[in-house]
Amino acid sequence: MAKKIIAAEYGDPVNVLEVAEAKIPIPGRKQVVVQVRAAGLNPYDVKVVSGAMGTDASRLPISPGAEASGVVHLAGTDSEFVKGDEVVVYPATAAFAEYVLAEADNVHHLPRGLGFDEAASLLLAGVTAVDALATLRITGDDVVLVHGGAGAVGSIVVTEALAGGATVIATASPRNHDHLRELGAVPVAYGEGLADAVEEARAGKRITAVIDSVGTDEAIDVSLALVAPHRIVSIAAWGRADDGITIIDGSSERSRHHRREAVEPLLADAASGRIAVEIARNFGFDDAGEAFNELVGAHPRGKLVFRPQ
Ligand SMILES: NC(=O)c1ccc[n+]([C@@H]2O[C@H](COP(=O)([O-])OP(=O)(O)OC[C@H]3O[C@@H](n4cnc5c(N)ncnc54)[C@H](OP(=O)(O)O)[C@@H]3O)[C@@H](O)[C@H]2O)c1
Repeated sequence: MAKKIIAAEYGDPVNVLEVAEAKIPIPGRKQVVVQVRAAGLNPYDVKVVSGAMGTDASRLPISPGAEASGVVHLAGTDSEFVKGDEVVVYPATAAFAEYVLAEADNVHHLPRGLGFDEAASLLLAGVTAVDALATLRITGDDVVLVHGGAGAVGSIVVTEALAGGATVIATASPRNHDHLRELGAVPVAYGEGLADAVEEARAGKRITAVIDSVGTDEAIDVSLALVAPHRIVSIAAWGRADDGITIIDGSSERSRHHRREAVEPLLADAASGRIAVEIARNFGFDDAGEAFNELVGAHPRGKLVFRPQ
């Protein structure tokens, strides 16, 4: 038997998350069972457990966790993997577990130089960032406003846009402004006065595109005052689809294509250090509620990671 985190009902993660015993899965054809070393926590997990993504009782109990890294424990037939391979699993299901069952297509070799924690925290945010940049076809001529530039998705958007030669203005809490400056972006504080702060930051340049990882009305309203809706991509402003902005979530064929193609380059760039994956804190399974709370509260910059042991 092995441990995994489950929620028997929807609700406040502190109240509903528990550690359960589960059988170690057996892989079928083109499947792999990975002994998890690290599993990255994402806002998506919090939304699923809290019921923000729906409260379908037939999906209970929920087994959260969308990305992990670890070591191949068992490989099914017709997979390229063998026991002992160090791998990254994305997209994953039920990854907050000692063992995760994955389709071989979603298992990627861990590149040399990339740690388990970083690998387990890279791909969900990374493919989303690349999808946003590709959807807007950001080039070196763009002046991009990034809402949430110090977040997991935002910091990869900022890094990649700057690497492509674009000028980047990014919103963040003041405590993250030095970090954004170090990346090469112009930081602005969100909240009251955002429009004026962006006006000052653009220093006469015309903003040509917006990538929003926050989804607040403030972020979208400020953006719509600067650029046409077709130059705004959001990953979180579900309530503002009627404004003509593009909202991406990996469900369209184009979005799926961008994300699939992004996986191997992201792993290589993280291994080489061109993309930095910052880890804020590790948690054991017994502290799952605390970890989920820290993510939605005033969490430090960087990813939160579960380690099964
Ligand atoms: N559609 C998709 O495909 C997709 C994929 C991945 C994620 N998402 C969603 O995208 C969002 C961001 O994900 P993430 O992993 O990047 O999260 P994250 O690492 O927790 O980052 C969240 C960011 O939001 C900023 N923020 C918080 N409150 C804000 C406010 N009121 N105004 C402006 N910025 C604010 C934070 O800035 P400071 O820390 O500087 O305060 C932080 O940079 C989440 O809602 C997630 O569910 C969607």
